[in-house]
Amino acid sequence: MTERLKKTVVLVGMMGAGKTAVGTALARTLGVPFRDSDEEIVKAAQRSIAEIFERDGEPFFRARETEVLSRLVKGEPCVLSTGGGAFLSEVNRATIAGQGISVWLRADLELLWHRVRHKTTRPLLRTENPRETLRLLYEARVPHYAKADLTVDAAPDLSVEQMALRVIEA
Ligand code: S3P
Repeated sequence: MTERLKKTVVLVGMMGAGKTAVGTALARTLGVPFRDSDEEIVKAAQRSIAEIFERDGEPFFRARETEVLSRLVKGEPCVLSTGGGAFLSEVNRATIAGQGISVWLRADLELLWHRVRHKTTRPLLRTENPRETLRLLYEARVPHYAKADLTVDAAPDLSVEQMALRVIEA
């Protein structure tokens, strides 16, 4: 890519949509840095997302998420992957709209479930019935993700590089 990226590309969407994997490939293709809001929160807190939820609570995590997003979006243009709850906040959406371009990586529920079902790292899915929890989160969140500037559909048969190209085309 020879043309310089002018705005940060902010990937939003559900857990399991592939934001981190596609974001990493996209940043490589565009020749810009890749950032991940969850990773920045973990680095600063010196503990995992699950530990932060357990010890400090979700509101603490959300406040850190808002701070991190606002800092990263103001920095040099990059590809920024966000946690699945980040785009639900009106404040975060306004921050992103001001400085970046939001891209919803849309994946259907079956694909999301297939990808997250064996992972134990997501505190919101530590429930009696994680599949149903995922469905409820999905239904509540889709209307917010739909406010993103662009939507790109994730498909199980596409590689992360092919997904990155889809984002660039969009
Ligand atoms: C969350 C998704 C996670 C992480 C946290 C909360 C959510 O990120 O931010 O567990 O609210 O959906 P991923 O979307 O990268 O899994």
